[in-house]
Amino acid sequence: MTALVVVSHSDPDSLTHHVARSISDAIRAAGVTVETADLAAENFDPRFATADLNLYRGNGTTPTDVLAEQQRIDRADHLVLAFPMYWWSMPALLKGWIDRVFVSGWAFEYNPGVGIVKELGRLTVHLVVIAADDSESFDRHGVHEAFRTQIERGIFEYCGATVGSTTILYESDTKSRDVLAAEIADLGAAVASRTADRPTAVAH
Ligand SMILES: Cc1cc2nc3c(=O)[nH]c(=O)nc-3n(C[C@H](O)[C@H](O)[C@H](O)COP(=O)(O)O)c2cc1C
Repeated sequence: MTALVVVSHSDPDSLTHHVARSISDAIRAAGVTVETADLAAENFDPRFATADLNLYRGNGTTPTDVLAEQQRIDRADHLVLAFPMYWWSMPALLKGWIDRVFVSGWAFEYNPGVGIVKELGRLTVHLVVIAADDSESFDRHGVHEAFRTQIERGIFEYCGATVGSTTILYESDTKSRDVLAAEIADLGAAVASRTADRPTAVAH
């Protein structure tokens, strides 16, 4: 079993990186092979540029940086995405990574007469979100529901992947260090226990 942990934050000392490291350590301790991808440190370019557009329009080849990302996801059974919540969604760096990497021909395929063929049925995705707001506010504003619709269903399930877990670390900017440390340890253990499971593809 292999997990790819992708972290999207420009500060290696951020809470998001601490969480990503804690999860990676816990997954490794559970006997799962871990590969990590630090999108900011690796200078991944999130801009959907001409080469990406050409590929989308069916008259280009996959850019080499995108191919490398697809290959490391291909090596993984579990994909863990750790990111701060920005504007009730994900940071632009991660959104650009998804725009460029989860493309037609690899993540899904349009087959005339059949429709969309989902290509990522072997992958289980775990979303780990760091947010300043509290859970009650998320409910009041429909953010949990929006997240489910836009990200879980709109991106990963659209491509056939199973969303194995979504974990939100709330009140990241206001909780005490001790409380955060305890929550991060629990979170790492919870994600690790799910990555030890065999992925199961579901039909949507
Ligand atoms: C551009 C930006 C947008 C943000 N939007 C939200 C938001 O919509 N909801 C929320 O709860 N927190 C929001 N925050 C707060 C961050 O989620 C929070 O500060 C961060 O997760 C703390 O973790 P870090 O130390 O790893 O950056 C936002 C922060 C920034 C910089």
